[in-house]
Amino acid sequence: MNALTVRQLLIDMKTPMGRDWNGGDAFSSALFNALSMSFPVGEQFFMDALRSGLSALPAPEQAAWKAHIQDFVGQEATHRRLHDLYNQHLKALGYDNHWASRLKHRFGRMDRLKDPRHKVAVTVATEHLTTILALWILQHPHMLAQAPHRLRQMWMWHASEEIEHRCTAFDLYRALQGNELWRKRWMRVVSAYFLIDLIRQTCQHLRHDGQLLKASTWRSARHWLLGEHGLLRLGASHWRDFFHQDFHPRQMEDKPAQQWLAQHQELWRAVAKT
Ligand SMILES: [Fe+2]
Ligand SMILES: [Fe+2]
Repeated sequence: MNALTVRQLLIDMKTPMGRDWNGGDAFSSALFNALSMSFPVGEQFFMDALRSGLSALPAPEQAAWKAHIQDFVGQEATHRRLHDLYNQHLKALGYDNHWASRLKHRFGRMDRLKDPRHKVAVTVATEHLTTILALWILQHPHMLAQAPHRLRQMWMWHASEEIEHRCTAFDLYRALQGNELWRKRWMRVVSAYFLIDLIRQTCQHLRHDGQLLKASTWRSARHWLLGEHGLLRLGASHWRDFFHQDFHPRQMEDKPAQQWLAQHQELWRAVAKT
């Protein structure tokens, strides 16, 4: 288990944000806004899932895992709080968050599954998707170069911490003797829902702003998703890696995250452990 630092990000998230904040580009602004819509509900689910997983471990292992899970929860709780503020600005701009309602409904249905490892497996799968997104953001900082400083730093900080805690859910799932078949099955289910929800929420923002049917929007979508540095193009091989028998999230590159955290220490303060 690598040590995790819970950080308070020292940026202003109270000041309202503008529409098309990413350098005036409607598609990428809508895409990032859609992702933000999913985070508070998703991150609450991850925290609850890992806390339930911790309780299911035998007592001696629980003691060894407790502090690490608390730090994971500390990181995700901080992300959830800042994205809540971010999403309040989106609401004020007139965007409705349908993704969160769909997530709540699906997560509620999972309560019928009595084995806590299902929820941990869903967390393992989603954490790999967020690691892919995080690497894409950190390896291509030019994509957010035109964004307001505070929003750019918020996305970079969140991406860095996602990479920092990328192994936590996976290692806990292993400690719980979670099986490989479930891990891979849940990844297929989670990925399908994630992609469909991301597209639906992004299109909804674009429709709201009258941008959905513009040729410039679709040119931008092609660039951001399928271009030389596009998310789907770069993410596909990392997604397939998850299905290898010897896959472990530690195999994912973490240098960009370490570098960002080391080079931006003025932007965060470590939260003291209690
Ligand atoms: Fe997060
Ligand atoms: Fe995470």
